[in-house]
Amino acid sequence: MMKGAVANVVEAIGHTPIIKLNKVAAHVKSEIYVKMEFLNPGGSMKDRVALNIILDAERRGLLQPGGTIVEATSGNTGAGLALIAATRGYKCIFVMPDKMSHEKIATLRAFGAKVVICPTAVEPEDPRSYYEVTKRIVAETPGAFHANQYHNPANPEAHYVSTAPEMWEQTAGDMDVFVAGMGTGGTISGCGRYFKERKQGFQVIGVDPIGSLYYDYVKTGRLTKPFAYSVEGIGEDFLPSTMNLKIIDEIVRVDDKECFLMTRALVRDEGIFCGGSSGAAVAGAIRYAEQLGDVKKNIVVLLPDSAQKYLSKIFDDKWMSENGFLEAPDPLGTVQDLLRSRPRRPIVTVGRGDSIHNTIAVLKEHGISQVPVIESGRLSGLVSEIDLLNYLLANPGKIDEPIDGLIEADYATVTPQTKVKLLRTIFNDAKLVCVLDRDDVVGVISKIDLIEYLAGRTA
Ligand SMILES: Cc1ncc(COP(=O)(O)O)c(C=O)c1O
Repeated sequence: MMKGAVANVVEAIGHTPIIKLNKVAAHVKSEIYVKMEFLNPGGSMKDRVALNIILDAERRGLLQPGGTIVEATSGNTGAGLALIAATRGYKCIFVMPDKMSHEKIATLRAFGAKVVICPTAVEPEDPRSYYEVTKRIVAETPGAFHANQYHNPANPEAHYVSTAPEMWEQTAGDMDVFVAGMGTGGTISGCGRYFKERKQGFQVIGVDPIGSLYYDYVKTGRLTKPFAYSVEGIGEDFLPSTMNLKIIDEIVRVDDKECFLMTRALVRDEGIFCGGSSGAAVAGAIRYAEQLGDVKKNIVVLLPDSAQKYLSKIFDDKWMSENGFLEAPDPLGTVQDLLRSRPRRPIVTVGRGDSIHNTIAVLKEHGISQVPVIESGRLSGLVSEIDLLNYLLANPGKIDEPIDGLIEADYATVTPQTKVKLLRTIFNDAKLVCVLDRDDVVGVISKIDLIEYLAGRTA
């Protein structure tokens, strides 16, 4: 063997890098890292699953030399099984629903696999269904072995013996939180168990697309009605036995649009060429990190597969806008546009502990009727002239008292990127809108400011 080479492609499975995200998660205190599983030779983390399933079947004598691996798969597990089968002399038959893309079918055929296509629009009990056809092929093919990733314990075990120990070693155990999307549950169950056995308080966070049943099941114990969504590879409409929901500390829900926009951002802003379920997992991880606030954790997110398979969907503007995942530019613009459209004015604030007397002077000087109150550099509330008036009516002359008792929360906070059209509904409930860039107040918008802006735009 030449130095520096491995003996065959199977030995190249794994050893994927972990990379820090620098832009898409810049606003959170925690650090978010991604495990680049799409760099596996078959294009996904399912290479590890396929290898463990085949090794396990060989050990048990379920797969004999020259045997045939049968699986109902729409892609990644099939690619993993097919590439390992190619090196070990097995045949493969994959059963796929007819909604699958031409590229996915062509990829499996490229590895020499036989692909059987079934109609999607039939009941699971129908002899033409995906499940029934798989069963029949397994029964009728001599030397057939059903990989069965939804019920084969070798699936989560693959992550327990391969993915997780590799991550633990790479990071020297310096991880606090693991985030993954949930399909068969192999990844989260296998990795989650490994990490929890090694570190007390380790957090395992599952990400579930809206439409899948996992979220409701974890929250309420009820199996609600699943509905269709577009992100591929995660979420289920049944409970696979490979999923151990007990290992999950928290479950975060994501919608198609945020998954796809995050996938695009990962590719464009971070150069990470990952697929839709990766965007979902990162979007979920960021949401979790936002909830942590000032608590700083090392969060590692597993990225299952690559952007390659989704070029004609997530990365195609036409497909994205036809499906409502790209918004047309909003003619009313953003809060930033509103702030820029008016004459520059200083951000007037008062401090917690300031006197009523001073606050009245500030309102008078600037001709305003409410003022944000800042404490230790952060927005702590709002004081308005009507509250000052009521206070002085009840307590005549007490103008040296601090304003603290009058601070109220009758305002909303937005960011400079918030769409102006959202302000209308925000003003139904709030007196004033404070614009925060990170923690800094960069603008204050009243109803009259909004009216002036809208009037100016239509003039
Ligand atoms: C693209 C993609 N993402 C995520 C997953 C979910 O991983 P797991 O099945 O281990 O829960 C899968 C697996 O089916 C997948 O193919």
